[in-house]
Amino acid sequence: MVIGLLVAIAIGIFAFARIVGGQTQEQQIQEDPIYSRSVAARLAPASQVAVAGQDNAALAIKSDTGEVAVVAALPKNGTELFQQTCSACHGQGIGGAPKAGDKAAWAPRLAEGKATLYEHALKGFQGKTGLMPPKGGRTDLPDDLVKQAVDHMVQMVQ
Ligand code: HEC
Repeated sequence: MVIGLLVAIAIGIFAFARIVGGQTQEQQIQEDPIYSRSVAARLAPASQVAVAGQDNAALAIKSDTGEVAVVAALPKNGTELFQQTCSACHGQGIGGAPKAGDKAAWAPRLAEGKATLYEHALKGFQGKTGLMPPKGGRTDLPDDLVKQAVDHMVQMVQ
């Protein structure tokens, strides 16, 4: 009789706890901002695509401390950038690129003024002879460095 009563009370408490828990616990967990953020992070696609000409800052790889990690070592100055990247086309004049050091090819471009050259190097440029990709394809570079590389090429024909 006593054992039967205790079992009945235990079942009653268990059922009551389930009812209360079902109405509160689950909802609270799902509304918890930390929980929902972790779900969103798990559902996010594994890869993201950088789009040329758009702000891709959100794609930068961050370290645990939140600092943006340097992915590829940046060239130290315009001369180095020219050797690493720009010379792929401008070294030999590939794809209609004005050859570095070729005064005849650069004369009409120098006449446009440096501001135009900077803009074409930074934003890309479809001219008569070919397609200059924005920043020579290295869209991760700071603008100043690209300008220094332009300066370097301009110096080579002066
Ligand atoms: C994929 C090949 C390629 C690379 C890499 C490249 N360029 Fe060019 N660049 C071109 C071509 C092609 C042109 C000529 C476009 C035209 O006038 O038709 C050009 C033209 C230019 C011009 C002249 C623009 C004008 O107004 O006449 C500048 C300045 C220039 N590039 C700077 C750079 C710099 C700086 C880099 C490196 C950061 C670089 N380029 C890398 C292909 C390239």
